[in-house]
Amino acid sequence: MRRALVAGNWKMNKTIEEARTLAREVAEGVAGDGLSQADVLLGPPYLALAAVVEAVSGSAVGVAGQNCSHQADGAYTGEVSVSMLRDAGATHVILGHSERRELMGEGDGLVARKSKAASAGGLTPIICLGEPFTTRRAGTTLARIAHQVEHSIQGAFGSPPPGGFIVAYEPVWAIGTGLTATPEQAQETHAFIRERLEAIFGLECAQETRILYGGSVKPDNAADLFAQPDIDGGLIGGASLNSADFLEIIRAAQMDSAST
Ligand code: PGA
Repeated sequence: MRRALVAGNWKMNKTIEEARTLAREVAEGVAGDGLSQADVLLGPPYLALAAVVEAVSGSAVGVAGQNCSHQADGAYTGEVSVSMLRDAGATHVILGHSERRELMGEGDGLVARKSKAASAGGLTPIICLGEPFTTRRAGTTLARIAHQVEHSIQGAFGSPPPGGFIVAYEPVWAIGTGLTATPEQAQETHAFIRERLEAIFGLECAQETRILYGGSVKPDNAADLFAQPDIDGGLIGGASLNSADFLEIIRAAQMDSAST
């Protein structure tokens, strides 16, 4: 059975001190409420990584980078490498987020190269996919997702990588907008992603790979989304910026784990 995972994507928010406080609150909440049946990751900005790693040390909470370079080192001003993230204590990295695809011009090929570098360097990539609203309205969501799976994931790995990978389905129109895919819309896409993974990498990889939903997950819609059979948790933006909401979402994932 796949363990639920709830990952916070703090984006470009939080000073080092604010990040430390939030990380402590989450770690204490997870321990205090016995939320041990779901995995939890925090995704702070680079500058706060070390403080967050320290704040959660000894707890069950892990830390993810929000991006990384596909290059190992060298003259790449402003970039951060996989080994730097590992050195700071991260175990996972979010790649191909739609904000990077749209605002920074990252395409599937680059996402694949980053995913490959992350995995080879010992970080588990969380590879984001998702369609814009025009695609959903045109009824071509699944074709778009198939293309992303092929080019961002299959393009990175000839066969399932040893540490595995995580997929996050985030419809672009639902990110930070307050609009959420209905549980049925999300389930349909998740099941389709799993089918594609099976066709490419085989049944075991498809069954073991966690597929997270992201896009305006909040305490009041998390349980219905996580109850879907192919939704294995969430990638949470806005609602991960305060501990009460984030812990509520972790609780919803934990209840789903307990009931399956
Ligand atoms: P949101 O962001 O929860 O604020 O919609 C999700 C994400 O971008 O990862």
